[in-house]
Amino acid sequence: MNVTMFGTGYVGLVTGTCFAEMGNDVLCVDIDAKKVAALERGDIGIHEPGLEPMVKSNTAAGRLAFTTDPKRGVDHGEILFIAVGTPQADDGSADLRYVLDVARTIGTHMATPKLIVDKSTVPVGTGDLVRAEVEQTLSARGAKVEFDVLSNPEFLKEGAAVNDFMKPDRIVIGAERIESSRHLEQLYAPFNRNHDRIVRMDIRSAELTKYAANVMLATRISLMNELANLADRLGADIESVRRGIGSDPRIGFSFIYPGVGYGGSCFPKDVQALVHTASACDYDAEIVRGVAAVNERQKSVLLTKIERYFGGLDGRTLAVWGLAFKPNTDDMREAPSRKLLDALFARGVRVRAYDPAAMAEARTIYKNEPKLTLCTTRDATLEGADGLVLVTEWNEFRSPDFQRVKQMLKQLVVFDGRNLYDPDYLTQLGFAYFGIGRGSLDRGI
Ligand SMILES: NC(=O)c1ccc[n+]([C@@H]2O[C@H](COP(=O)([O-])OP(=O)(O)OC[C@H]3O[C@@H](n4cnc5c(N)ncnc54)[C@H](O)[C@@H]3O)[C@@H](O)[C@H]2O)c1
Repeated sequence: MNVTMFGTGYVGLVTGTCFAEMGNDVLCVDIDAKKVAALERGDIGIHEPGLEPMVKSNTAAGRLAFTTDPKRGVDHGEILFIAVGTPQADDGSADLRYVLDVARTIGTHMATPKLIVDKSTVPVGTGDLVRAEVEQTLSARGAKVEFDVLSNPEFLKEGAAVNDFMKPDRIVIGAERIESSRHLEQLYAPFNRNHDRIVRMDIRSAELTKYAANVMLATRISLMNELANLADRLGADIESVRRGIGSDPRIGFSFIYPGVGYGGSCFPKDVQALVHTASACDYDAEIVRGVAAVNERQKSVLLTKIERYFGGLDGRTLAVWGLAFKPNTDDMREAPSRKLLDALFARGVRVRAYDPAAMAEARTIYKNEPKLTLCTTRDATLEGADGLVLVTEWNEFRSPDFQRVKQMLKQLVVFDGRNLYDPDYLTQLGFAYFGIGRGSLDRGI
């Protein structure tokens, strides 16, 4: 099939490339000329395992191309995907300007029937807005061309995006017309061979399904963080509690890790957007509001522990391991590390940081920050540092040589924002250890 992808970010690039991999002819359109030029050179600009070789091989095979020309994009595809950003607006709602820009672009250039598929995460009712925008643009130029709008939210995870797209748990398709749904299902057939993963529904339900999934996961994280903060105050160990509840199959072990709060480009904005959607229909989504509030507070928990331990922070140096909002990505959007780093800099702390993938991103974000030293290796961060702070649980941070850490740190203290380390082992080695919810408040911190 001829497929066009509007938006070549994490979602558009992965989706477009995976469709090309299955033999489709995919054209990706983006308004960012620099990004398009880089993609044409095979430089994907993001850290996403397995993606770059696939982009290169499909481009070489002539099945994947990139352009900034919207007319070429509209002409090319029988199926046109909208995969542009839906960032958080000032009032917490999802900013739909990019989605509606694409709808107008389609209405402006459309000359043959099209299936317009919304893959961006958008509030309930956006399908109607896209349809209306295309209709208005068409009628303004006196054109009459058939089209349909579908919702096909994306559930891939950054860091495992290619695998998630190739082997989806489910493919949600929201459609009003069965023929349109079938057309899109054909495109997904290669991803749906093992068993039927397609979940068919109306457009509004599909739009809400995406928010429901993210809010459900964010709720588990915030609830676990709330329990961890309680454990700290009660002298209990949240890691024992986690194992104690995760073994219940009704609860399970996924997404119940306490930590420094969720971040990234999706959970924070999607939780806020659902709060906004609820209030727009006069409903107070109390739990969802709480999820966001607990998360915001959680991003300061590690800082509070650091401050209590050191007393004054001015003039200290800390080693920070991990900057990306989670492992296997270079994405630092809404990353808990950013709030921590900003607070440390404001208190006069020098930070020596390392992340396996997000160094370039950190260099861009903190280009004018003299208190930050970006180190080329994990262990180089420890030189002259007063303590170690673990923020992101990359594999290479899981089993460091703590004897070496001990030799390099000026003060033997570890703040473990992901509960990666064994407190007993570190305590035996002579470290002061502070995790999340490990009863550390009981010891006066
Ligand atoms: N990143 C994820 O893990 C993820 C997962 C599932 C869903 N989503 C959702 O998918 C959507 C896209 O997310 P993303 O992370 O890929 O965003 P992104 O910011 O990485 O990329 C969006 C791209 O759209 C481009 N763009 C903006 N306006 C355009 C236009 N008029 N025409 C063509 N291109 C245009 C931008 O230049 C940018 O390259 C969002 O709604 C997001 O919530 C993201």
